[in-house]
Amino acid sequence: MSKASAPGKVILFGEHAVVYGQPALAVPVTQVQAEVRIDKIFSPGIRINAPNIQLNDKLDSLAASHPLAATVRNTLATLEAGSLSGVAILVRSTIPVASGLGSGAAVSVAIIRALAKHLRKDLTDEQVSQLAFETEKLYHGTPSGIDNTVVTYARPVYFVKGQPIEILRVKKPFTIVIGDTGIPASTKESVRDVRIQRHKNPERYETLFAAIGSITRTAGQLIENGMPESFGPLMDENHALLRNMGVSSPELDNLVEAARKAGALGAKMSGGGRGGNMIALVQPGKAGAVARSLKEAGAVNTIINKVV
Ligand code: MEV
Repeated sequence: MSKASAPGKVILFGEHAVVYGQPALAVPVTQVQAEVRIDKIFSPGIRINAPNIQLNDKLDSLAASHPLAATVRNTLATLEAGSLSGVAILVRSTIPVASGLGSGAAVSVAIIRALAKHLRKDLTDEQVSQLAFETEKLYHGTPSGIDNTVVTYARPVYFVKGQPIEILRVKKPFTIVIGDTGIPASTKESVRDVRIQRHKNPERYETLFAAIGSITRTAGQLIENGMPESFGPLMDENHALLRNMGVSSPELDNLVEAARKAGALGAKMSGGGRGGNMIALVQPGKAGAVARSLKEAGAVNTIINKVV
């Protein structure tokens, strides 16, 4: 039996603009995980069982575009193990799907690492991330690559599309509260809509992306210089720009407002938007109160995460 797991992730700054070359900051969320277990079985072929998405099928019966099947096939091709047979791959995850917490990337990374372990082969982090990126394209259309990167390395990252990974050095730990609207939302659709709007109105969107990029760079410096509590207002600004971009939602705005009222230093939506999760920067002693206020305002789940 071989096992591997991968954490969720949350984007602190820069979603959407990152697809167009601006930087983004993201951190792992270890309170939620994807877990994959590979067992030998007596029947031939490869069986994939993913109870979260009601999947229990033979790999051969799944389409080339099926994200889990594609992950398995691409990994086996890279590991030169196309003839693998007589195994069952069990995929479990506590990361809510379509919520901006990187569930797709985490499942991919856990499958890739579990298969490598099972076959007693080594893959570098770069290879794992690249394989997961191939699947991200199936989930998201034109992903920046931030999700597979932060989930693979499980470290805070300063990410620029197409550039080598830069670990974000968190000089002083800080606390964020993550609040889930409970509304599943497709990143593929929100990324596509931004693309359409940008096509119609390139100048407006380039200005929005550049403003987000500048906020992200400043926030990155504050984090690396040990002044995390001062980036709260930048979160508020980033949220306003994402609203202008049309990717927030009344539910996200409501939770962002509730967090601010409860004493958060700043708050914003996180990820693709239109639903999914928001985040708030809090003083550690306020985390519980902000989480409670988010629940009262309709959040279906909250996570308190200390970023180190
Ligand atoms: C998704 O987690 C973040 C987006 O910026 C899309 C991407 O970067 O691929 C919305």
